[in-house]
Amino acid sequence: MAFLSESLKRVKPSATVAVSDKARALKAAGRNVIGLGAGEPDFDTPDNIKQAAIKAIQEGRAAKYTIVDGLPELKAAIVAKFKRENGLDYKTSQITVGVGGKHVLFNAFMATMNPGDEVIIPAPYWVSYPEMVLLAGGEPVIVTCSQASGFKMTAEQLDKAITPKTKWVVLNSPSNPTGAAYTRADIKALTDVLMKHPHVWVLTDDMYEHLVYDDFEFTTPAQVEPRLYERTLTLNGVSKAYCMTGWRIGYAGGAEPLIKAMAMIQSQSTTNPAAVSQWAAVEALNGPQDFIPKHNKIFKERRDLVVSMLGQAKGLVCPKPEGAFYVFPSCAGTIGKATPAGKKIATDEDFVTELLEAEGVAVVHGSAFGLGPAFRVSYATDTNLLREACERIQRFCGNLR
Ligand SMILES: Cc1ncc(COP(=O)(O)O)c(C=O)c1O
Repeated sequence: MAFLSESLKRVKPSATVAVSDKARALKAAGRNVIGLGAGEPDFDTPDNIKQAAIKAIQEGRAAKYTIVDGLPELKAAIVAKFKRENGLDYKTSQITVGVGGKHVLFNAFMATMNPGDEVIIPAPYWVSYPEMVLLAGGEPVIVTCSQASGFKMTAEQLDKAITPKTKWVVLNSPSNPTGAAYTRADIKALTDVLMKHPHVWVLTDDMYEHLVYDDFEFTTPAQVEPRLYERTLTLNGVSKAYCMTGWRIGYAGGAEPLIKAMAMIQSQSTTNPAAVSQWAAVEALNGPQDFIPKHNKIFKERRDLVVSMLGQAKGLVCPKPEGAFYVFPSCAGTIGKATPAGKKIATDEDFVTELLEAEGVAVVHGSAFGLGPAFRVSYATDTNLLREACERIQRFCGNLR
């Protein structure tokens, strides 16, 4: 339609949303569908956080606009979090709060992209990174990180991808969609490369920081290489670890001029995130953290279950990731086969379409995240349902000829 903007032609709709829509339609038609597509915990928001929000409403603290990029109380809680958990010193003037981590990322790209600017994005990537870069007028530069390299970008790959036009490199550990996490040594190898290229900034998406298993030690680039602190935007949020996806609060710490520019963009779009959600986030960050290890124990059991069961499915190879709540098995061994109904599996998109059709299990194809043939399973779902879904996937794979 001629009326719509040119920039819209550069982007595509979210594949994860498309899968959810399809699963919902099948469910509405009476099919028994198990959705393993969701990127959110199945646990409810902890009670102390809910109570803090109710109190804020009752005390009249939720009725009015707040400072555009965050309440002083929330910024103070974020400063304390960065110090306590990451050993990073930020002033409140270096903190921004947006309507979810997604909004903060969007502000960062809108505030920095000029035509031709490049952003290095390791694949498999969270679907929104390249699309946001494109919307902001920049150019995503995709670096493919195979299953063999643990889905992690190497120093050599990073060095090769950097050009005079590179503005940002995006890092996401633990990763959506693979669950892979960078060790301190992995990050150091990358930051060593970045020390040779002072024009490149780091956007580290630490959204899954707390969701790591088997004593994995989370670290973030500005902590590993303090000399990169000035050109790092450290992004985080309460959505995943605090079971608050619906509340829409994300935040970042970074250089003051960048933070100010991001606030300017936000001031002309959403204004502040909902005041009630900000008060809830203050409690999330300052309050008890004991539910996190409890949830992680359950997530780890589910991860082990899924890795073991999918590892036994014919034609699948399922690596064991360090964190998040995703696994990213390869389905290369199923390509070229056909279902009993005679449907050919030529791509991972065919695999997930036929799996949904035949067994009612909704997953997202890997090529939507920039690496196929594979698919993403979210195990943030009831354990019994998860077991049943894995049995169905085993049966589906076993029936391919
Ligand atoms: C890697 C990654 N970053 C950022 C986000 C955005 O989180 P939020 O819900 O806070 O916008 C997500 C959500 O799926 C994610 O997976």
